[in-house]
Amino acid sequence: MKVGVFDSGLGGLTVVKEILSELPEAELFYIADTAHAPYGDKTHEQIKQYAYRITRYFIDTHAIDALVVACNSATTAAIAYLRAQFPELVIVGTEPGIKPAVAATRSGKVGVLATQATLNSEKYRVLAKKTAGKKSIEIYEQACSGLAEAIENEENLSEKTEALLHEWLAPMREAKVDTIVLGCTHYPVIANEIKRIYAKEVTLVETGAAIAKRLKTLLYTSSVSRSHTVRNKALHLYATGKISRKSAERILHDSVDFEPLSL
Ligand code: DGL
Repeated sequence: MKVGVFDSGLGGLTVVKEILSELPEAELFYIADTAHAPYGDKTHEQIKQYAYRITRYFIDTHAIDALVVACNSATTAAIAYLRAQFPELVIVGTEPGIKPAVAATRSGKVGVLATQATLNSEKYRVLAKKTAGKKSIEIYEQACSGLAEAIENEENLSEKTEALLHEWLAPMREAKVDTIVLGCTHYPVIANEIKRIYAKEVTLVETGAAIAKRLKTLLYTSSVSRSHTVRNKALHLYATGKISRKSAERILHDSVDFEPLSL
């Protein structure tokens, strides 16, 4: 099975890590679309264009059986469009884990950290209203502008980024939020730092493992052929712009190499 995965940068590797352990038999192709990063500040029209080009490339060059949009921002902006354009393809998206957070909270207060593009989307609003509204859970949302870029570029979080995180998390702490949704695939990379800065007992919800499970279910119930050819490399990484290999290695716990790609 061949699976294409993409994100604006390194964040989607937090999902790749889970797919590698859930589906070791799959061959993965990953695009970090750093030439167009961050997606979080782009319009839905722009994100649709990037997502279309990437999917076209995966199909034409690697004949993928499934696509994983390992990015909340691209999912909210483009997944319906991709499904309409590529009806034959198994497509799995990424959504902020509000459902598991609502199930986990004891204080009845849930925080959501995400990009502006995700929080602005109709798809997110419907999900939040439907899931939290039913149980009278209060949601504290925070758009973390610039955080994905900081995670791409800063080996250790800079003072400025730490200060921003303090500012973003303070209202959640005051409100006694006990569960925070990491609604951007970049954020699990700094889960420990978020916990440290929050400085109070908190459950962080990420969705990589659930996405990998969903992909497995869909692949094994679809008509995708499972006869594979012999291969010597299970993960192929591409970047459309600058990328930090070191940060990628920290996420995957393995040595990696990115091939440059222009789309
Ligand atoms: N990793 C992405 C997400 O899940 C996008 C970050 C960005 O490029 O703004 O939303």
